Amino acid sequence: MPKLGVNIDHVATIRQARRTIEPDPVWAAALAELAGADGITVHLREDRRHIQDRDVRVLRDTVQVKLNLEMSISEEIVQIALATKPGQVTLVPEKRTEVTTEGGLDVIAHRVRVKDVIDRLHAAGIEVSLFIDADRDQIDVSKELGAEAVELHTGCYADALTEVSRAKELAKLTDAGAFAVQNGLLLHMGHGLAYRNVVPVASIPNVCELNIGHSIVARAVMVGFERAVREMKELISVTGRASE
Ligand code: PXP
Repeated sequence: MPKLGVNIDHVATIRQARRTIEPDPVWAAALAELAGADGITVHLREDRRHIQDRDVRVLRDTVQVKLNLEMSISEEIVQIALATKPGQVTLVPEKRTEVTTEGGLDVIAHRVRVKDVIDRLHAAGIEVSLFIDADRDQIDVSKELGAEAVELHTGCYADALTEVSRAKELAKLTDAGAFAVQNGLLLHMGHGLAYRNVVPVASIPNVCELNIGHSIVARAVMVGFERAVREMKELISVTGRASE
């Protein structure tokens, strides 16, 4: 059964809408843990649109499960990761104008920089996952660069409008996932996953971590954070149901 990393960025988005102190993502992390989250994920963006430096510091001290820091390969953010030492870093591409992460990190184009960042994170004892598209060449290079894991971008699957295109995207994820595992990489998936579409992805063989944010926070607004996390945990614990 895959582990659930709960991304709490959008709790901070609500706080930053008023530049105030509530709701505190640190509280959300505690509630998520109480409800069974296996990890807490935050993205410290260069523009600080939601998560702030203080959040990462306090979460580092308070989160008992794995803290996964999503981040770009910019030097300023790398320095923060090296100083804070989260359990895991997931390297992602970042553009100022995007609403959310668009596409995976191109580890082929950025090979030299990514290798340097991975080596420095490893020297600080931090495990590294690379958020990439479901592409064999990107997986090959991820392995070569020494990452422990790849997180395959599930956005195209989540955005697919028809059953046929959804099945095609799921097959791509399944194929690329098998290739990553054959290459000795841990297999993570994330982006755009929601209650309505998570089960087929959770059922992909050997997927060991799902990172899910927006849909959990959206449901939490209506039903509370613990219930929202518990309901997602229940869904992903029924691995195999999709193929029954
Ligand atoms: N994984 C990665 C690498 C991401 O960048 C994001 C978005 O921050 C997520 C997972 C979570 O995506 P969503 O909020 O759509 O669940």
